[in-house]
This record gives sequence, structure tokens and C-alpha cells, in this order.
Amino acid sequence: MQVAVLPTSSIAKKALMAVTGAIWIGYLILHMWGNLHIFKGASEFNHYAEFLREVGEPVFSYAQVLWLIRIVIVAALAGHIWAAVALYNQARQARTTHYAVKRVVQANYAARFMRIGGVVIFLFVIFHLAHYTWGWVTPFDRADPYRNVVVGFSSPPIVLFYLLALASLGLHLFHGVWSMFQTLGVNSQRYDGFFRGMAVVVALGVPAGFATVPLAVLLGILN
Ligand code: HEM
Repeated sequence: MQVAVLPTSSIAKKALMAVTGAIWIGYLILHMWGNLHIFKGASEFNHYAEFLREVGEPVFSYAQVLWLIRIVIVAALAGHIWAAVALYNQARQARTTHYAVKRVVQANYAARFMRIGGVVIFLFVIFHLAHYTWGWVTPFDRADPYRNVVVGFSSPPIVLFYLLALASLGLHLFHGVWSMFQTLGVNSQRYDGFFRGMAVVVALGVPAGFATVPLAVLLGILN
């Protein structure tokens, strides 16, 4: 196994990538599931969006839990990016000019693919915040999240951009979930098939669940 020959600091960084990645997967599953409420209609969806701000009351005050979640996901994203950059720099310094084993070259392609995909997803998230949180891209009414989503996806180029970003997310999740299981050591020859299956379910299920909303707007199912 590769991990055994890595210096401890690399293992710690890989563990940080795995844990921060897992936090984002949890967030994405909840976010995707929450988005599906839109199929119940405008008032249900707007009610759900308001509930997200009220959750935790009266122990927490208005929007406090939401802010806690925001702090956790921003910190996780920062940790994920920091560890990715640090591992990349470390690997570059350690790299010799010739690769002895084909597997290493393949791993290197996967790593490069993860970096490019990661940048695409990061840029998508910034655009997405401008689109649906700050309301800078399409007409926006803070009191009507349902209308914001429908109006926001009435532009086919925006829908196409979302679908491409979701495809990148799927590929990133597939390799990421698989690597996460290996790093966290819950992987073994015996359960290989199960963990690969989990990676496929997350990598297909999360982007597909998200994609239903822009596609439904584009097809006139949501209006
Ligand atoms: C078609 C798919 C998606 C739709 C329809 C959607 C919809 C939304 C909406 C309506 C909001 C604003 C929520 C509010 O302020 O009440 C939001 C926020 C957000 N979305 Fe998405 N989203 C999608 C995909 C994604 C993906 C793929 C990611 C991450 C990779 C993501 C990450 C976020 C983040 C970080 C926020 C900010 C949450 C906050 O303000 O606390 N979303 N999304």
C-alpha cells in the first residue's frame, strides 16, 4: 500500500482532506435533499427555506445554527484546499523525472484531474453564491426563494453551466469518496466492491438529485 511509505505529515494531510471532504458530502446530501422540496410547490419550499433560519430555536437565536453550519463548511473548504495544495507541493518536490511504475503515472493523472475539477467546483460555488445567496446574477427577491430558483434557471446557458459543474462534481466525488475510504483505512480487499459501490452511489446520486431542479425548470415542469 502506498500510504505506508508516505511521511506522517502526508498522512495527516490526507486525513484532513478525507474528513473535510466528508463534511462537504454530508452538507451536499442535505442541501440536495432540501432542494427537492421545491417539487412540493412554492409555499412548501419557501417555508422550508425559512425553517433553515429558524432551526434550533429557542436554544439558538434566529439563523444562528445556519451560521454555525456556514462556519463549518467554510473552514472545511479552506482545510481541504490547503491540504490539496500542500500535498501537491510535497509530491512535486519528491518527484523524480522518471516514473518506475505505470500505476504511479495513472495516479498522477487522477490527481491532476482532481485538481482541475476542484478548481471548477470552487469557481462554481462562488458563482452559485452570487446567483442564489447574494442575488447578483438574475432578478432576486429575498422573500421568495422559489421564484429566485425558477427565474434563475430560466436561462439555458446558466442551466448548462450548472449541469457541467454537476458533472465535474460527480467525477470529483467518485475519486474523492474512493480515496477517502482508503485514507481512513476502512477499506479492505473484502469490502472493495461495497466501497466502490458507495462511491458510485454518492457520485451519481448527489449530482443527479441536484440536476433535477434546473432540468425541471428548463422543461417547464417547475414554473
Ligand atoms: C441545481 C443545484 C442547486 C440548487 C438549485 C441550489 C440552490 C441553492 C439555493 C436556493 C441557495 C440559497 C439558500 C438560501 O439562502 O436560503 C443555495 C445556497 C448554497 N448552495 Fe446551492 N444549490 C444547488 C447546488 C449546489 C452545489 C452543487 C453546491 C456545492 C458544490 C452548493 C452549495 C451551496 C452553498 C455553499 C450555499 C450557501 C448556503 C448558505 O448561505 O448558508 N449548491 N443553493
